[in-house]
Amino acid sequence: MKKKIIAYNRVEKPVLDDLKKKYDVRFFKNIDTKNDPEFLEHLSESEGIIGLELPVDAELLDNGPNLKVISNVSVGYNNLDLDEMTKRQIMGTNTPGVLTDTVADTVFGILAATARRIPELDQFVKNGEWQTEAVGSEHYGINIHHKPLGIIGMGRIGKAIAQRGHFGFDMDILYHSRTRKPDAEQTFNAAYRTLDQLLEESDFVCMITPLTPETEGMIGKREFQKMKKSAIFINGSRGKTIVEQDLIEALKNGDITAAGLDVFENEPIEPDNPLLNMKNVVTTPHIGSSTHETELAMSELAAENLEAGLNGKRPPNLVNPAAFEKIE
Ligand code: NAP
Ligand code: GLV
Repeated sequence: MKKKIIAYNRVEKPVLDDLKKKYDVRFFKNIDTKNDPEFLEHLSESEGIIGLELPVDAELLDNGPNLKVISNVSVGYNNLDLDEMTKRQIMGTNTPGVLTDTVADTVFGILAATARRIPELDQFVKNGEWQTEAVGSEHYGINIHHKPLGIIGMGRIGKAIAQRGHFGFDMDILYHSRTRKPDAEQTFNAAYRTLDQLLEESDFVCMITPLTPETEGMIGKREFQKMKKSAIFINGSRGKTIVEQDLIEALKNGDITAAGLDVFENEPIEPDNPLLNMKNVVTTPHIGSSTHETELAMSELAAENLEAGLNGKRPPNLVNPAAFEKIE
């Protein structure tokens, strides 16, 4: 009999089709995972889950007594309660690396769109408001090149952002991480700063850490007030690494100039969120890694992780190694 697995929210079709040949796969999208009877029934017999942003807590794990592995189609894994999973010898995996350059491209695209007001001016043209040959200073943007770019979280994606800033735009790279990064200091001439120094010195502040208990709400009122009034803030990490209400206040009060956001406290964002009415805010719907090529590569890597876990092998991208040690 084929092993049962669950696919959740996003697994690219060629990968899903391949998994279906080998496993009894049930695909679920945007359901109430606490109460959907079909989901709970399949979960009770499933050995693995592959998918995007499934909230995994003790209750879900209690309902999945046969689970061996939960394979995220994402590099972030803040959706997984790793302590509960490890206790039950359930492995968790992610998809690092294959999305790094794509996310850095997105973050830089959002940065450029925000600095040069591209979405706002696109609407200006399409709405027929461009009626004199030369636009006035009310439509000017801010230079990117040669400016200080502060990166909070100098990991894989942070370094790829630094690469674009340093080699592409001749920016001065400042960074803050838990540990120093001599490779980035050498390759991109990046300078380490405390968080406060980075906030005070950067023209562009770019947040790209994982969401953890330490980074939750890391950028709030105090931090926005430390930034330059001319600063542009970019969030490519997770919505909850910042205090969204404090960002709204900071933009209203002119504590910073603009923001570019790919992630939000609630996703999808509420239609009455004040950020949506601010011209100096550029939004995208959490599409950091969403290109055809990269989503496929992520699904493929997630399937490799899933299959290793299902077969009692150590998955290449295991995020809770203690779970595997317990099995061994
Ligand atoms: P990574 O290689 O693990 O890098 C994370 C970096 O964050 C590391 O440099 C780490 O510092 C730093 N960090 C962690 N906790 C910190 C803290 N308390 N203070 C300061 N720095 C801290 O991860 P990655 O592959 O670059 O991905 C980073 C995150 O981007 C993901 O976890 C995810 O949340 C987000 N992401 C978003 C999208 C999107 O679609 N918007 C797509 C992909 C990823 P140390 O190295 O010193 O520990
Ligand atoms: C996307 O947000 C990811 O973490 O891969």
